[in-house]
Amino acid sequence: LASIEVDVSGVEPGMSLTVKWRGKPVFIRNRTEQEIEAANAVALDELKDPIARNDNIDASAEATDLARSAGEGKENWIVMIGSCTHLGCVPLGQAGDFGGWFCPCHGSHYDTAGRIRKGPAPTNLPVPTFTFTSDTVIQIG
Ligand code: FES
Repeated sequence: LASIEVDVSGVEPGMSLTVKWRGKPVFIRNRTEQEIEAANAVALDELKDPIARNDNIDASAEATDLARSAGEGKENWIVMIGSCTHLGCVPLGQAGDFGGWFCPCHGSHYDTAGRIRKGPAPTNLPVPTFTFTSDTVIQIG
C-alpha cells in the first residue's frame, strides 16, 4: 500500500503514536505548547541542518518550526520518519539534550521539531508526504 490512514483522535497534546509505513516507523506527535516554544526559540543559524526536509513544502525551505510541523493552525502536529539519519536506528522519543528524540546507537540528539542538534546524524528527521483528511485522520503517503 502506498498510503495509510491513521486515526489520531486519541492522541492528546504530549502524546505520540508510531505507525509503520513502507516498512519504516513514522512518528506522529501532538506537541505541547512548551515543545513548540522551545523549537521556535532556536535561531536558524544554530541548526546543523538548516533545511526543513519536509516533502510537503518546497525542497529548499528553511527548517523553521512551522516548516517542520503540519503547518499553519496545526503546528502542534509533527509527522516524521522515525529513522535516524546517521545509520537508521530508531530514535527514542522525549529524550536527549533537547527534549525531542535521542538515538542511542551513536548519540544523536534531535530537538522538539525533529531537527538534528548534536551527534553524528547529518540531517533532520525527514517529514513524509501527509495530509489531514479530517480533523482526526492523517493520511501518510
Ligand atoms: Fe543514530 Fe548512529 S544511527 S546516531
